[in-house]
Amino acid sequence: MDVSLYYQEWGEGEPLFLLHGNGEDGTYFVNQTTYFSDRYRLIAVDTRGHGKSLRGTAPFTMEQFAIDLHKLMDRLQIQKAVILGFSDGANIAMKFALKYPDRVKALILNGGNLNTKGVKRSIQIPIEIGYRFAKLFAGKSEEAKSHMEILGLMVNEPNIRPEELCVIQAPTLVVAGTRDMIKQSHTETIAQNIPDAKLSIIPGDHFIANKKPEAFNQVVEDFLWTSLPKHIIKYSRHQKTGRGKPVKTIVIYSSKTGFTKRYAGWIAKETGAECLPLAEAKKKDLAGYDVIVFGSWACAGSIRDVGWFTGNMDRWKGKKQIVFCVGASPVTPDVEKSLAQNFNEPKLEGANVFYCPGGLNYEKMSVSSRLMMRMFVKAIKAKKDKSAAEEEMARVMSASYDISDKKYIEPIITCLRG
Ligand SMILES: Cc1cc2nc3c(=O)[nH]c(=O)nc-3n(C[C@H](O)[C@H](O)[C@H](O)COP(=O)(O)O)c2cc1C
Repeated sequence: MDVSLYYQEWGEGEPLFLLHGNGEDGTYFVNQTTYFSDRYRLIAVDTRGHGKSLRGTAPFTMEQFAIDLHKLMDRLQIQKAVILGFSDGANIAMKFALKYPDRVKALILNGGNLNTKGVKRSIQIPIEIGYRFAKLFAGKSEEAKSHMEILGLMVNEPNIRPEELCVIQAPTLVVAGTRDMIKQSHTETIAQNIPDAKLSIIPGDHFIANKKPEAFNQVVEDFLWTSLPKHIIKYSRHQKTGRGKPVKTIVIYSSKTGFTKRYAGWIAKETGAECLPLAEAKKKDLAGYDVIVFGSWACAGSIRDVGWFTGNMDRWKGKKQIVFCVGASPVTPDVEKSLAQNFNEPKLEGANVFYCPGGLNYEKMSVSSRLMMRMFVKAIKAKKDKSAAEEEMARVMSASYDISDKKYIEPIITCLRG
């Protein structure tokens, strides 16, 4: 193996591997590790090229990630394990179960998909846009190259035929959110094609394990209780955690052409918060604030200046931390949280992340940015066998447009006041 996967371990008992989604790392499962660690040996793995696991030289594919997991199981001398995968992690889990059926004790597939058609179009288009941006810059920057590879997983993979799933013999739970970015009909197809699989749809979006842990953990617990021999599970009580009410709020923004600044202004006005550009906020002591909101623009599949925010997150523990990203992608309001995942920032796991559609303003862009955007549109136009989504993308992005709207701050305000 060219790399050793990084993993974190908690508890004792039946081994239960946790496989995170695209662009994330094992910390995604923070609400499962606290809940299940008194009954299971939890192993949260960072996928190759994610979190603290190195990229290595092997192919960056789901197939390879399944091989990596197999090697890790051998290294840990675990013959059979429960595998819980979320999103791309669920896809890796499916690949693993197909390739190594005798190594799976039970399978929990949360928000997985068999192919890109399973993802709602309003999600898939921005992913494709982010991918194209990252690809354009991949030759010039290692970071963009890494974004391209990671987003590429959602553009080019997985490719599993529904009929392949019939060989899975392990007890399986297929679980998704009512507002999941995966089409419900697609989730149902997965469940229908795995013999005796149990299907559960929980109120919430794609990120139910993280955002609705009570409901998610209960469904998983019930499934494991009925699927695994009782002697390996013991039950205990769990405590809920609470949060204080926000008092003093600051909205900090980084904006080149004004869209993010506009959103920051709207949020500040709505909440009576202070509003500052990043350069000024850097000079300020933020210790006295209860809520810190940071907004910046999407740049090549990343959030511009987000390093400043993530670098301070530890210092701001106990404060509510909100990030919003403003991009050119035209999206519907229900995709904010899902879309935030495309902006490859696993370090943002502890924060509340939102997406607000902005637009393009060629007049206010720097010469170099304008040039890059023109190249980007040209590259899409020049592509042979363009999809309808790409045609649409190239058409929309050829000129300035403004799709910002105050309504997109609503989920941010709800989070801020929650
Ligand atoms: C170099 C460059 C890269 C960009 N990359 C992305 C991207 O990956 N995804 C996206 O949705 N928009 C992208 N955009 C568009 C901007 O994020 C968008 O125009 C945003 O509204 C600008 O915000 P601002 O007005 O606050 O600067 C990019 C723009 C430029 C100039």
